[in-house]
Amino acid sequence: MSNSSEAELLHTFKGIPFTTRSSPELLKSLDTFKAREDDVLLVSYPKSGTHWLAGVITKLYMTQVTVTSPIEFGDISQLEELNKLSSKRIIPTHLDYNMLPQNFKNKKCKMIYISRNPKDTAVSMFHYYRDNPNLPTVDTWTAFFDLFLKGNVVCGSWFDHFLSWAEHEDEKNILFLFYEDMKKDLPKVVKEIALFLGLNVSDNDIQDICEKSSFSEMKNDTEKENSDPNHTVCALTSNRKLIFRKGAVGDWKNYFTPKQNIRFQEIFNEKMKLSKM
Ligand code: A3P
Repeated sequence: MSNSSEAELLHTFKGIPFTTRSSPELLKSLDTFKAREDDVLLVSYPKSGTHWLAGVITKLYMTQVTVTSPIEFGDISQLEELNKLSSKRIIPTHLDYNMLPQNFKNKKCKMIYISRNPKDTAVSMFHYYRDNPNLPTVDTWTAFFDLFLKGNVVCGSWFDHFLSWAEHEDEKNILFLFYEDMKKDLPKVVKEIALFLGLNVSDNDIQDICEKSSFSEMKNDTEKENSDPNHTVCALTSNRKLIFRKGAVGDWKNYFTPKQNIRFQEIFNEKMKLSKM
């Protein structure tokens, strides 16, 4: 990252770049967070479909639930704000497994990890870097591609993030989902989520939830401000309008050169060889 504003926008905590929207004091205090047994964590590396998943989950609950701000967002007072909430909490986070407050692990809270083909994630993140004033500017795709592969981007390496969570794939309180599966057969994934959360939902309701969670519906809602335009589940922006870009699988093919694809694939194969996923 070479531009001058980078130092003002990012800081590093435990080797991982965060934006200044996550204060160092807050990050240091995460382990004091008081988890509740019925908290549900919505975990992702940025640009993996977090808002899509959050949209689905909130529609699944008939009772009142609150999708909170991300646990790593804000200053230290934010932890107290989350503490005060009386309703059931759906808590988003981009933290890797090692940084997750210990309390969530001890209490075996339910956690849903959504991931996406890292090539598409990289392209989506490239656009986010360009459009989001909270992130440093990058001039070209080529420059961003190198930063992404080195893990020199906000939230660190995609590989490290994914692997830190994938190590826990056998834990019953963690559900792993893939963006591509949601694109292929959303009703099937929604049923899987409902089962995991212990929610009884009819086929008609599932149909309805899927229709309301399509890319075009969610984008329109945000544009018409049917949903709060200042509320995101991403600690990197509060502007929902930056979230709904293309919503496609395979957009990487429009960006990766053949050489970049080979390089990416080599690193992917090397890093992922120990993962069963
Ligand atoms: P693109 O930039 O490739 O379009 P996150 O919510 O983790 O920030 O992820 C954002 C990505 O998810 C964006 O990808 C966005 O368009 C896509 N997305 C959001 N809602 C979606 C939906 N309902 N269906 C498909 N993709 C969606």
